[in-house]
Amino acid sequence: EKGLKGHRFGHTIHYHKAVASTQPLAKELAEQGAAEGTVVLAEQQLQGKGRLGRIWHSPYGKGVWMSIVLRPATPIQLAPQLTLLTAVALAEAIRSITELNVGIKWPNDILHKGKKLCGILLESAAEEQRLKYVIAGIGIDVNLGENDYENELRNKATSLRIEKGAPVDREQLIEAFMMKWERLSDLYDQQGFEPIAQLWESYTISLGQRTLITTAQEQFYAVPLKLTERGSIVVKLDDGEEREIFSAEMGEVKQ
Ligand code: BTN
Repeated sequence: EKGLKGHRFGHTIHYHKAVASTQPLAKELAEQGAAEGTVVLAEQQLQGKGRLGRIWHSPYGKGVWMSIVLRPATPIQLAPQLTLLTAVALAEAIRSITELNVGIKWPNDILHKGKKLCGILLESAAEEQRLKYVIAGIGIDVNLGENDYENELRNKATSLRIEKGAPVDREQLIEAFMMKWERLSDLYDQQGFEPIAQLWESYTISLGQRTLITTAQEQFYAVPLKLTERGSIVVKLDDGEEREIFSAEMGEVKQ
């Protein structure tokens, strides 16, 4: 077992060849008292979980499929801030390792030229109105080739390798991500969400362009205007009405 000794994240890494999903394993460790920053990493997931009940395609040896135990002091209603912080750390790590100009699509997808490279899934457990722990699931399509994507996925998803035209070292990427995450988490603990929100806004591709928004209830076009402290987004509808959106799918945007 290798780990980033003396650091807040990645000091302990539980490595597996194949698992159903790294999420429940990390959850189990968290329940047993595992320290913040404990990582579960797998070469392959047979039932990788995506957001909104989707499946996360996780072929052997080609990606970074990992779940991390967090023990934040964040109030429950501000938990989305952690997702945004994670997305910033990922965007920065990918930019530094690959030099690809990746962008963040609200709330937490990392895209390159309109195709998705990574996903983040946060699952939290609460106790007496406080966050007991959070499991941050991170999936990065690192070295998948064109043939690893089936038809429907091919138009929407891509890998660092495909975009860069050369394989990317997964260990280097994980280490860069942990370091960025640590730096941002320290910043967040000291100065709150404001500096994180500013970074998020500097990397996002989701603001300012009219796009199709699909919520659980309805579908409409709107221009996303700004990010709020709650991790939601304020959008402007065609009739001028402004609305705050907490959970939705956004349509395509130019990048
Ligand atoms: C999304 O739908 O965008 C989120 C995808 C999250 C995938 C990661 S891979 C590691 C962890 N284990 C899972 O089963 N899912 C997350």
